[in-house]
Amino acid sequence: MTKIPVHLDINGQHHELQLEPRVTLLDALRERLGLTGTKKGCDHGQCGACTVHIDGERVLACLTLAAQAEGRAITTIEGLAREGAMHPVQAAFLEQDAFQCGYCTSGQIMSAVACIREGHAGSDEEIREYMAGNLCRCGAYPHIVAAVRQAAQEYAS
Ligand code: FES
Ligand code: FES
Repeated sequence: MTKIPVHLDINGQHHELQLEPRVTLLDALRERLGLTGTKKGCDHGQCGACTVHIDGERVLACLTLAAQAEGRAITTIEGLAREGAMHPVQAAFLEQDAFQCGYCTSGQIMSAVACIREGHAGSDEEIREYMAGNLCRCGAYPHIVAAVRQAAQEYAS
């Protein structure tokens, strides 16, 4: 199939790729750019493991074509830490022991950052509702909610 040039801005870095138009952002990140922190769970928009941010909003990278993200600011889990320091949400997940196998964790963290930024982390119930698109096969939900609550409180203080 014919390839097209696709320019992606990821975590502040510019990348020029030649991709088939059907290539998803998830496959471009993982297979072409080696950014494997973003996970492939279902590849059908049902688990949230592939959550990244585009222009600050969470999207499912498995349902987004790489070409659709051209010229927009993409942030992946690899882009959250600053100058070697974990993002507060990453630190809260660690402190609250909010993972077991860790497969869902990068998607959970990307969703949590957006959830807090959207102002949807006001209560445990609200956190559960707005994090409902991120599944955890290990059932770490109570710890995940605790981590989001902790990070949201730190943001507010
Ligand atoms: S891999 Fe994208 S939602 Fe499951
Ligand atoms: S920690 Fe294993 S799937 Fe969530």
